[in-house]
Formats: sequence, structure tokens, C-alpha cells
Amino acid sequence: MQELLEELHQRYAGLKEGRLANYIPELAKANPDWFGISVVTAEGQVFQVGDCQRKFTIQSISKPFVYGIALEDYGREEVLRRVGVEPTGDAFNSLIRLDEKSKRPFNPMVNAGAIATSNLIKGEGPADRLNRLMQVFSSYVGHEIGADMSVFMSERTTGHRNRAIAHLMLNFQMIGPNVEEILDLYFQQCSLLVTSTDLACMAATLAHGGLNPVTSQRALSPDYVRDLLSVMFTCGLYDFSGEWAYRVGIPAKSGVGGGMLAVAPGRLGIGIFSPLLDERGTSLRAIKVCEELSTRLGYHK
Ligand code: DON
Repeated sequence: MQELLEELHQRYAGLKEGRLANYIPELAKANPDWFGISVVTAEGQVFQVGDCQRKFTIQSISKPFVYGIALEDYGREEVLRRVGVEPTGDAFNSLIRLDEKSKRPFNPMVNAGAIATSNLIKGEGPADRLNRLMQVFSSYVGHEIGADMSVFMSERTTGHRNRAIAHLMLNFQMIGPNVEEILDLYFQQCSLLVTSTDLACMAATLAHGGLNPVTSQRALSPDYVRDLLSVMFTCGLYDFSGEWAYRVGIPAKSGVGGGMLAVAPGRLGIGIFSPLLDERGTSLRAIKVCEELSTRLGYHK
């Protein structure tokens, strides 16, 4: 496995296509050469190469994990009533399918659904909810997790589109009137700091039925692992989800910070960091590495 990761790292480090995210100004400060690949097996073995200890913001990769918290806090039926599980075929930040008829956002991976899901973390006020969020993410990565305050502030001050989405949802009574509080929690979850090895450990925890294979700590009830993996598989790459299923064949989630997480259930978790993105906000090197890993390890059947 180590040799395979080193081979892929060497091959794709030369891929210089794509662009850094700049709609959140702080993200444009990334170095386009950063590139880390990590794998954690369901038995807890760790393999890593390149910039695998460099921290970056998790961004949208937080969405399935917050969905897991919502499922634990409200149960499957109530969560389904508030957020659907249908792919949109639209970009992550689309407002198009948000209308009166839909009653609820389409799925928890697009921003509308993710904002509604953040509102389903239980707690006595915003600080309590944030603490719960960080405690759950810490159990997935196996150590205390922090946040990048500059990225948080950068998105908070420029996130007009997410603000518009949230207000539209308020208008359709999909969320309550505490819009700024809900958005703060959503921006906070996006600004959590991880490494590619942290992502691989989070993925391995899902591959291992919700139990972190390195620390043996439970992060998610086994009942809800399939819910996360299903929505990740059908909606995790937004308007690229169909092609991803065709080319890579395993559930995955991308983030505009350059992260990618992919899960081979029962086998292992993959975490990749490379901030050069395609036009849909997906790390280009991560697509290549995942495609090759899943094919060569025989996971795409
Ligand atoms: O809501 C946003 O725009 C960001 N905080 C997260 C977007 C993201 O990572 C999209 N995924 N590729």
C-alpha cells in the first residue's frame, strides 16, 4: 500500500491543472503544490505520503458527518422529513431547486440541505451546539479538532449566496428565524482543520461501522452509517456524482479546501489533499488518485 501511494503521489504531483478556490478569499492563499495522500484501513493501519500533516479546512466534507449528528439527535424519520435524499444534478451552491413545492432541501450534501442539517444539532444554544459538533469530529479524527478563524471570518463576511439560500429556506419555513446563528454553525463546521490523514481516519471510521479503528472510540451509531454512505454515494460530488459513481464506484465527499474523502466499506478510508480544483470545486488530483486506487484495489466492481 505504501508503495502504491508513493507511486500515485509521484505520478500526479505533476498535474498542474485546475484553480484554487477564491470565492472564500482566505482559500486563495493555499499553495497549489500541496499534495498529500493517506489511507487508514478498517484495522487501523495508517499509510501516508506527501503533505499529509498539513492542515486545511474541511469545508463540505463536514456535511455527511453533521448529517450523522442530526440522525443521532432527531432519528431517521424526522431528519428525512426535513431534508431529502434525492440528488439534484446541480452545483453545491445552487438555489434553483429550492422552491415551495420541494418542502425541504433535496439532500444534505448541497448547501441548502447542509444548512438545514446544521440546524438539527441539538444543544442549549450556539456554544453548546458547536461543542457537540467539535466533540463528534474529534472522535472521528482521534484527537482534538480546531478551526481556522480566518477562513471562518472570510466566509462569514462574503457568504452572501449561502445567506440568500438560508433566507429562501426561512421564507419556505424549512428553517427557523435564527438564520445568522444557523449560518454561523455551518461556516464553523466548514472551517474545521484537518489533514489528509484525519480525513482517511474519518473515512476508515465509516468503513468500520462507525467505530474509529485507531482509537476504538465510537463516532457514529452503526444504524446510521449506511445513511451517510448512501447520500455520499448519490449526492457527495453534486453534479459530478453520476460520473464519479461510474469512474470511481465508491462513496466520497469533496471540499473546496482541496480535501477529498472516500470510503471502501469494510476495507479502508482514503483522504487526499490537493487544493487545485476543477470548475465544480473538486480536487483534480484527488479524482485521479481515487479513480486509480479504487480500480487497482478492486473496489469498483
Ligand atoms: O458553503 C460553502 O460555499 C463552503 N463553505 C463549502 C463548499 C464546498 O466545500 C463545496 N464542495 N466542494
